[in-house]
Amino acid sequence: MSVYSEGVFQRGFGTFPLRGNELSVAVRNAIDIGYRAFDTAQWYGNENDLGAVLAEAGVPRDDLLITTKVHPENMSAERFLPSVEQSLRDLGLFAVDVLLLHWPPGDGPVEPSLELLQEACRLGYARHIGVSNYTTRMMRRALQVLDVPLVVNQVEFHPLLNQDKLLATSAETGIPLSSYCSIARGEIFKYPVLADIGERHGKSAAQVTLRWILQKGVTMNTMSTRRENMRANFDIMDFALTDEDMRQIDGLTVANYRISNADVVPFAPTWD
Ligand SMILES: NC(=O)c1ccc[n+]([C@@H]2O[C@H](COP(=O)([O-])OP(=O)(O)OC[C@H]3O[C@@H](n4cnc5c(N)ncnc54)[C@H](OP(=O)(O)O)[C@@H]3O)[C@@H](O)[C@H]2O)c1
Repeated sequence: MSVYSEGVFQRGFGTFPLRGNELSVAVRNAIDIGYRAFDTAQWYGNENDLGAVLAEAGVPRDDLLITTKVHPENMSAERFLPSVEQSLRDLGLFAVDVLLLHWPPGDGPVEPSLELLQEACRLGYARHIGVSNYTTRMMRRALQVLDVPLVVNQVEFHPLLNQDKLLATSAETGIPLSSYCSIARGEIFKYPVLADIGERHGKSAAQVTLRWILQKGVTMNTMSTRRENMRANFDIMDFALTDEDMRQIDGLTVANYRISNADVVPFAPTWD
């Protein structure tokens, strides 16, 4: 059971690459629509913008689930805790709800950064801790290293990428998954079967994709600057895909497809 599984937190609002006024407008719209889980990162350079708009919006603190991530370059013993303290100042929070390691150190050892993450939790800087972009091998290793449970591995997850091994490892380790690039940054629209399935349910291809993610047992993050898209992405709890729908969507996997690969992110590990 993940903190993200609790009601509205299943549907998170991502903030990359929003900043400044664009972020404020988007987050205000998202709050108005009903989003209460917000995802940011040191890397996005927008923690202060997010903190400001959330403070001004006046949503009770306990109704929000705020996730941030430690930048890969802040994972040394000298930089880790000061960087988290800076995140808290920027966000205007005493503690973040979930603190993630944004990327593993390539194929290097995961133990040092996991121990620093756990230390941040023990110091009260985070209510929960998690990781992002961890491979199956790293998920198993984390279980051996940590005393505090990981509440999430946030990973690229959409129908074009087969994540069956990660799903199996999530079940085995009890580390829940959460999605990013949930509509593959629009690439899913090239597959008419999603719109065909949607037509039967009175929903769009994006809504079908997001529903598929939830029915896989994965919580989701989406980002949009458009109110109608934000609303559509949120409005996915009133229908269910059939087993046949799920099977057809499973069949959309594209060999070697991955948005967050080593060409884009120097910290990417060898995916297993
Ligand atoms: N942990 C990590 O390493 C990592 C990596 C990447 C992202 N993330 C997080 O995950 C969040 C979501 O991922 P993402 O933004 O990269 O990818 P995404 O959600 O797959 O795609 C976002 C794009 O899709 C469009 N869109 C959204 N909803 C739509 C809809 N219903 N119909 C048509 N177009 C739609 C948006 O454009 P419009 O603005 O025009 O709607 C936006 O350009 C990020 O904001 C970030 O918080 C984490």
